[in-house]
Amino acid sequence: MQVLQLTLLVGTMTGTAQLVAQEVELTLDDGDTRVRTQPMDGLDAGVFADGGLFLICTSTYGQGDVPDNAKQLYESLRSARPDLSKVSYGVIALGDRTYAETFCNGGKRFDAVLAELGARRIGDIMLHDASAGTMPEEIAVEWVGGWIALCRKEVSLTA
Ligand SMILES: Cc1cc2nc3c(=O)[nH]c(=O)nc-3n(C[C@H](O)[C@H](O)[C@H](O)COP(=O)(O)O)c2cc1C
Repeated sequence: MQVLQLTLLVGTMTGTAQLVAQEVELTLDDGDTRVRTQPMDGLDAGVFADGGLFLICTSTYGQGDVPDNAKQLYESLRSARPDLSKVSYGVIALGDRTYAETFCNGGKRFDAVLAELGARRIGDIMLHDASAGTMPEEIAVEWVGGWIALCRKEVSLTA
């Protein structure tokens, strides 16, 4: 089986997305999938330059904004507008339905800009509602098994 290399990019304010990313990495990282987890701090659009498979794991703040540590990366994508046709990605979006108008907008914003630049999303966005009483890391670990299976299918179709 081909080894999948996955880069997990984390946007967080108070560490929940980081915890989710750690659990996801523990779940996925085995002989068949190699996971590299990176906080978004200090990153720009260049992180996508070589293409590949990415998982964006981010929360939402302010008026439906990306968290502070994700702002530079998000703005860089919007201004540099690189061709991302060699990028495939998934999104884990953390939010709270109390913010009805902007629920999970941080993740949705990344999805929109990546798609606009030609990247291909695999699967649906995972949405977590902090007001639902469920643990985001548990929901994410359940979700990511199906997501990685979809990624493998795509890889075998394009190989
Ligand atoms: C000040 C503040 C603003 C927030 N704004 C939103 C929002 O606009 N939309 C949303 O869905 N969630 C919003 N949230 C909820 C967070 O995204 C959610 O609690 C998330 O799990 C936090 O993850 P983090 O610890 O990784 O930053 C907000 C939370 C706080 C404290």
